[in-house]
Amino acid sequence: MVCRVKSAIFPVAGLGTRFLPVTKSIPKEMISLVDRPLIQHAVEEALAAGIERIVFVTAPGKVTLEAHFQASPELENTLAARGNGAALEVLRATTLPRGAVACVSQPRPLGLGHAVLCARELAGDGPVAVLLPDDVIEAATPCIGQMVEAHAECGGTVLATMRLPRTQISSYGVIDPSDTPAGAEDGRLVAVRGLVEKPAAQDAPSDLAVIGRYILAPSIFGHLARQRPGAGGEIQLTDAIASAAAGGEPVFGFCFEGRRFDCGSRVGFVEATVAFAMQRPEMRDRLGTFLRHEMARLETTVLAAE
Ligand code: G1P
Repeated sequence: MVCRVKSAIFPVAGLGTRFLPVTKSIPKEMISLVDRPLIQHAVEEALAAGIERIVFVTAPGKVTLEAHFQASPELENTLAARGNGAALEVLRATTLPRGAVACVSQPRPLGLGHAVLCARELAGDGPVAVLLPDDVIEAATPCIGQMVEAHAECGGTVLATMRLPRTQISSYGVIDPSDTPAGAEDGRLVAVRGLVEKPAAQDAPSDLAVIGRYILAPSIFGHLARQRPGAGGEIQLTDAIASAAAGGEPVFGFCFEGRRFDCGSRVGFVEATVAFAMQRPEMRDRLGTFLRHEMARLETTVLAAE
């Protein structure tokens, strides 16, 4: 029987240099899409999939994200005294049970694979999910939930994947699909025989990019511990998964259903902000009107300049 996924690792030790100066004092994962920090989107996705244990891998000296998920009795009392039930509800929804959240520090920035390895002792014995909060996925069933369901059928290691244009592929881990069919699962699963981290476009084995959601077999920690630095001189998670596949362990790409936003880039972050704001009934009309006017204004300016 396939073991249930109970723990999720959130690597959040990055410096967020692309988002300076805001990341000078605020961890990138605490920047908000409308009013919810990126990390909250990812944590809620994991909880909705039945994951019970949250492990943050942070950088030394970085403001801990744990505080965001702890109870804040003083603020709660103030809101209760003011009769502000709506705000109180929003606040309480961020509180996770004691013991559900653990934090570990990644002493040096040695790469994503090394960050995941740092969480080894806290992750438990079974399969473990990894969520990269930079990848925000809007879906009817949250992406990691879709993957947990697929994993219950196929076991092994499951990687979120999507097809990307060749011009973008060199920023991602890329799947080398096997010729063997992966089985049913509505054709969403692809058997993986290899993986390459950030290949040059002409060397990419396919157009299937790995997106920041993983379910990893427990053997991953052994592969990571043996891993030598790869692309960018870092210990790469992709390389450790490639070692597992090369050793005959089952690895699958999973073509998830949903819309992915690349919140690791500034423009992707703004796109996600607009998309999430447009889903709020209280904002939709005004923002829609603003965007239409803004587009019209832009076209007039561009036309005038030509
Ligand atoms: C990381 C992984 C890469 C994956 C990507 C998904 O890269 O190393 O394999 O495709 O996340 O967003 P990063 O974006 O941290 O450079």
